[in-house]
Amino acid sequence: MRQLSVKVVNKVLEAEDIVSLELASVDGQPLPAFSAGSHIDVEVTPGGLTRQYSLLNDPSEQHRYMIGVLRDPASRGGSIAVHDSIKVGDTINISEPRNHFGLVQAKRTVLLAGGIGVTPILCMARRLSKIDGNFEMHYCARSPERTAFREAISKSAFVDKVHFHYDNGADDQKLKLESVIAKPDPETHIYVCGPTGFIDYVLGTAKNLGWADSQVHREYFGAAEQDTSGDVSFQVKIASTGQVFDIPADTPITRVLEDNGVFVPVSCEEGVCGTCLTRVLEGTPDHRDLYLTDSEHAANDQFTPCCSRSKTPLLVLDI
Ligand code: FES
Repeated sequence: MRQLSVKVVNKVLEAEDIVSLELASVDGQPLPAFSAGSHIDVEVTPGGLTRQYSLLNDPSEQHRYMIGVLRDPASRGGSIAVHDSIKVGDTINISEPRNHFGLVQAKRTVLLAGGIGVTPILCMARRLSKIDGNFEMHYCARSPERTAFREAISKSAFVDKVHFHYDNGADDQKLKLESVIAKPDPETHIYVCGPTGFIDYVLGTAKNLGWADSQVHREYFGAAEQDTSGDVSFQVKIASTGQVFDIPADTPITRVLEDNGVFVPVSCEEGVCGTCLTRVLEGTPDHRDLYLTDSEHAANDQFTPCCSRSKTPLLVLDI
């Protein structure tokens, strides 16, 4: 993954506890192109913490990348570093954009954002508006004061397609998800990004209403809670070389592989981004990620070795 140095050309308080950063190339050259739903890795402390942030600006822009960051009190240091340490004029390292949450062509698109999950959703709305797509966007937030990019959306060409829903507002403006996605429709795709509870609510509702897994796309921010008390050791075999490695009960597969010179790309290392996705040729993975869908988990032919484990004594990996 190519690394880029970019400079912070603007930093704006967009809402309570939410800042946006505008990043531009150091030499004035266009930045690598990106598609709606893409994210970048941002080195939030020099040589230290790296975090993933979705790009929120119009994907036809190459003079800048824009990200939005919520100050998370439960942060492991990433969002606090962005809020408190990174300033306009700084040069920071980022990765090229990657997309695991891309738009698929559809006759109709429903975009659902919860809180700071608005960032990739806003990027999608900008793209769909530009290509004159048939879409609607629902943006749920705790209050107007905590609703980032409200003004930008209000001034956008697609404002009439956006519905704001506030937790502290009247009942009649709250999201009525069962009506919004009432009838499964093979021509419609749904995209959701936000806190885990919000995404799980959307996925559960869509499933109950009969929507196919493949039509409901989601992007989580953070890892799922895991009970690791029953974890045991197992082995993985590298199909191309025949090497077999012991994976201790308390060590991620990717760490053992890295220590032994077997390269698997990783980014979030908590089952969210899909960077480490690896094909499984034999054995049954114990999926611990939020990246694959239920049906992809059930197929057991790929998994995320940064956080997942094995249900069988041996996993053979297509590496
Ligand atoms: Fe992100 Fe494994 S590195 S899912």
